[in-house]
Amino acid sequence: MSEAVKHRRAALRARRAARGGLALFAALWVAAPPAARGAPPAGAAACSGCHAPVPGGAIPSLQGLSATDIETAMTAFRSGEREATVMDRIAKGFSDEDIRTIAEWLAANREQALRPTQP
Ligand code: HEC
Repeated sequence: MSEAVKHRRAALRARRAARGGLALFAALWVAAPPAARGAPPAGAAACSGCHAPVPGGAIPSLQGLSATDIETAMTAFRSGEREATVMDRIAKGFSDEDIRTIAEWLAANREQALRPTQP
């Protein structure tokens, strides 16, 4: 193999790798939108008022739940598919978009989000 061919192949590989990296970066960016970090989205601050950070209380902890778990539960509460005492009414106040944003934020900021408001 000539040096020129070798060089061209290496350049091609590098370009391919760069494209792959960019696609991965874009995918990660979409998976974790800026709203998932930083200040709580509207509605999310209220959740910690009832949901304590540690399991064992009367109200289930959200600590072990992923964003998808929270989203699925909220949607089921809202539709009435899942029985609830209060979560059905709370969930009805949120759109699909709100629920997704809140769920992602809670999952990404659990320490801060699920701190008890009363010590
Ligand atoms: C007034 C108290 C209260 C508030 C505020 C509240 N919850 Fe709940 N949540 C509950 C109770 C009680 C349950 C158990 C189901 C029921 O009886 O409604 C529950 C259950 C859940 C569950 C299911 C947990 C599991 O282990 O399956 C999720 C998810 C959830 N809440 C998310 C939220 C989110 C997100 C918010 C903020 C938008 C929120 N909750 C605000 C009281 C509350």
